[in-house]
Amino acid sequence: MGGGVARWGLAAAVSEAGGLGTLGILSPAGLASDLKKARAATDKPIAVNLLLNLAREKHWEVAREADVVVTFWGKPRRRTEGIWLHQCGSLQEAVAARAAGADGVIVQGVEAGGHVRGTTPAFELLDQVRAALPDGYPLLLAGGIADAADVRRALDAGAEAAVLGTRFVMSDESGARTAYKQRLMESRETVLTELFGLGWPDATHRVAWNEAADRWLRDDPLGPRWVRLANRAAGPLLSRLPDSLQGSTLKRQSASIPFLSPQPPTSNTPPNLLDSGPLYAGECVARIHDIRPAGELVRELADGS
Ligand SMILES: Cc1cc2nc3c(=O)[nH]c(=O)nc-3n(C[C@H](O)[C@H](O)[C@H](O)COP(=O)(O)O)c2cc1C
Repeated sequence: MGGGVARWGLAAAVSEAGGLGTLGILSPAGLASDLKKARAATDKPIAVNLLLNLAREKHWEVAREADVVVTFWGKPRRRTEGIWLHQCGSLQEAVAARAAGADGVIVQGVEAGGHVRGTTPAFELLDQVRAALPDGYPLLLAGGIADAADVRRALDAGAEAAVLGTRFVMSDESGARTAYKQRLMESRETVLTELFGLGWPDATHRVAWNEAADRWLRDDPLGPRWVRLANRAAGPLLSRLPDSLQGSTLKRQSASIPFLSPQPPTSNTPPNLLDSGPLYAGECVARIHDIRPAGELVRELADGS
C-alpha cells in the first residue's frame, strides 16, 4: 500500500508474524530508508511493491534489494533477477505476466480497496486464471479477504496465499492517519471511482465515502466527466513534482475543488486530506470493526489455515 500507508513498521510486523510484509512505493530515498529499517526490525523476508506507472530506475535499484518485488499497474516486464510477482485484474493480464516471466501472479478482484485493475470478483477471476495457467503456477488472491475464514476459502479455491490491504490499513502499525482508520471502522459502503485521479488519471480506485466523495459522486460514481477529462489532460504531471511542491499542493486540496490527488491521508500528510483525499478501502471494510496490532492479525488470519 503506497503513499505512506505500508511503511517499515507495518511490513516488519507482518513478516515477523509469518506473513510477507510489503513496503508500498515512496520516493526512492524513502523506500531505501524504509527497507533498511524493516531489515533492522526483522530478519524475515520483506517485499517491495512498485507501481509501474510511477517507478523510475532508482526505485528498481532499491526494490532489487528486497526479497520479493511485487508490481502493479502496467505492462508486466521482468526487471529483477529475484522473485517477482505481478498483481493482475484480468485473465489476459495474468497470462501476460506469466509470459513475461513472473514467478506468480496476484489475482485481484473488483471488491479490492485502493486502485482496482479489473472488473471481475476475486474468486471468479481466480477460477478463470487457474483454468488457463499450468497446474502448480503460484496464484495469490487479493480482494475482500478480512478474516481467517476468508483466507481458508482462498486456499481451498487453489490460491497459494491471501493478499490483504484494507484489514492492514486498520492496524496499529499502518501509516494511515488515525482519523482515517476511525472513519473506516464506521464505513459500511465503498465506491469505485476515478475522482482522485490528479496525477494518476483513468485508474479506478475503491474508497470509503467522505466529504469529497459525497459532493462529487452522487450523480456518477466515476466522478464528473469534465473532471476526468481535466485529469487526463494534466496526465501524470503531479506525481512528477518535487516532494516539497507536492506537499504544498496537498495542503491546498479541498473537497469543494475536484482536482484531487491520489494521496491518502497518512500521518505525514496534512489533515485536510481526510475529507479531500481518498479513503482507500475495499468492500470488506463493512466487516472490519477494530484496529489491531498487525502481528496479532497475521497470526489470527493464519489460524484457520
Ligand atoms: C490503502 C491502500 C493502498 C493500496 N496501494 C497499493 C499499491 O500501492 N500497490 C498495489 O499493488 N496495490 C495497492 N493496493 C491494493 C492491494 O494490493 C490489494 O489489491 C487490495 O488491498 C486487496 O483488497 P482488500 O483491500 O479488500 O484487502 C492498495 C490498497 C489499499 C487499501
